Amino acid sequence: MSDSEHLCLTRREALVTGACSFAAGLALPSAAQAQTRTAALTVYPVKKIIRLKSLKEGEPVAFTYPLEEQPNFIVKLGAPAQGGVGPDRDIVAFSALCTHMGGSLRGRYRHDLKAIGPCPFHFSTFDLTKGGIPVHASATQNLPQVILRVEGEDIVAVGVTGLIYGFRHNLKDGTLAKGATPRRASVPSPVMPG
Ligand code: FES
Repeated sequence: MSDSEHLCLTRREALVTGACSFAAGLALPSAAQAQTRTAALTVYPVKKIIRLKSLKEGEPVAFTYPLEEQPNFIVKLGAPAQGGVGPDRDIVAFSALCTHMGGSLRGRYRHDLKAIGPCPFHFSTFDLTKGGIPVHASATQNLPQVILRVEGEDIVAVGVTGLIYGFRHNLKDGTLAKGATPRRASVPSPVMPG
């Protein structure tokens, strides 16, 4: 065995040993708890957000997805938008956490501009017709957009583009959002419609 192979093996052993030591000090979760944990999720869950007819133009509705700790909003813009769904392609949904430093954008929708902002922290504003691109102030990354589909009378969430602020992975370190249904790993990851 070479030195490098030995080194790798030693690291692996250390990780396994460390993981076992750590696990030994923790109580194992119940089966019910394990089902709601998101660490096992490998693809985005599906969640019904709202009935198509219930959404009123210019009036955002808050929801959590894919984790309960991740706030979003859905809004009917009244103008076609990138990734928009519905008969007018104007219904979009985004994270409510600013991509700069996580400021809450709740209550900051501007229907006259089809934008959200300014963020209360450093005034970033995001264009909701163009995939949440920042158009003012400090943020340099688009607001993560929730991928929507219309299924019958309902609008459902099936994925997210971009990383939600404060998370190392959109599907980890939290609890599955209420009403979300996990999908099997064989389901292909959703792609943002053009
Ligand atoms: S946290 Fe929103 S602009 Fe800084």
